[in-house]
Amino acid sequence: KGKGWMTDHLVHYKGFWLTPFGALKGLMLIREHFKAKPGDIFLTTFPKSGTTWLKALIFATVNRTRYDFSTHPLLKNCPHDCFPFLDAYINENQPISNLDTLPSPRLFATHIPYPLLPTSMIYSGSCFVYICRNPKDVLVSKWVFMNKLRPKELPPLSLEEAFELFCEGISHYGPYWEHVLGFWKASLEYPDKILFLRYEEMKKEPLVYLKRLAEFFGQPFSPEEESEGVIHEIIRLCSFENLSSLEVNKTKVKRFNNQLVIENRDFFRKGKVGDWQNHLTSEMIERLDQITEEKLHGTGLTFNLSE
Ligand code: A3P
Repeated sequence: KGKGWMTDHLVHYKGFWLTPFGALKGLMLIREHFKAKPGDIFLTTFPKSGTTWLKALIFATVNRTRYDFSTHPLLKNCPHDCFPFLDAYINENQPISNLDTLPSPRLFATHIPYPLLPTSMIYSGSCFVYICRNPKDVLVSKWVFMNKLRPKELPPLSLEEAFELFCEGISHYGPYWEHVLGFWKASLEYPDKILFLRYEEMKKEPLVYLKRLAEFFGQPFSPEEESEGVIHEIIRLCSFENLSSLEVNKTKVKRFNNQLVIENRDFFRKGKVGDWQNHLTSEMIERLDQITEEKLHGTGLTFNLSE
């Protein structure tokens, strides 16, 4: 029996909560149709952790010699159009025939938890970037986002309801902690294949982390690129302020799996660290922090719970 945040229900599959016709179907399509190859770049995230931002940053970084910043594709297209979700891409392109002919490096994103991904992906010579974000900001961001997607005839989901579901682990691709820990442990096991990033650190030092990303892809910025300000151009192009002000991200919509329609503007809300302080009660903060401490205990992964 499923439990939901919207009208569609989530089903429990091998320890994770997935939508049957979106995520679960997507997972089956990946298993059936997709073969990862050397050079592929996968962006893997728990929803609302910075997927849109990282899509833009990675797309701009790996294509930096291909496009001019004044006519860049990200000025006219939402990051989700430049860098598709793998499961949605396969679903939307049935019968699938063009996966092998896509330009290299192939860029694909997915929210599918690490333990559910085909093991062949990790041994394929491709690389993974995971970005995590503190659970209190993820919860608030997700609660607002889910209410935007909720059919108008339904009453909005209260923060209390959203909080309970999140704490119980009932969340798209959740439990949140198991999702993060799956990729965290894998990043310790395969440090050259999985780069584990944090939203909060990237906000503080985008330059440091953008350089790390480029090095991880085997495309470090050259001294000439550094002196020409290429890194700063990419950071500025992909900043919340810039992307959210673009016409395409204010007025257009994105369709997923030929059915779910999301307004691009809903991918950009505040883009800040610590907005949970404006929403959560002290009881909620205490309980969520306690769950986080318990779940992460002994794993080596820590969060600065006060930011
Ligand atoms: P908030 O709701 O806290 O503002 P995802 O892309 O994984 O769905 O995550 C969405 C969150 O990332 C939202 O957080 C959104 O505002 C924020 N975001 C979107 N674009 C961003 C950018 N360019 N820089 C920083 N944060 C961004």
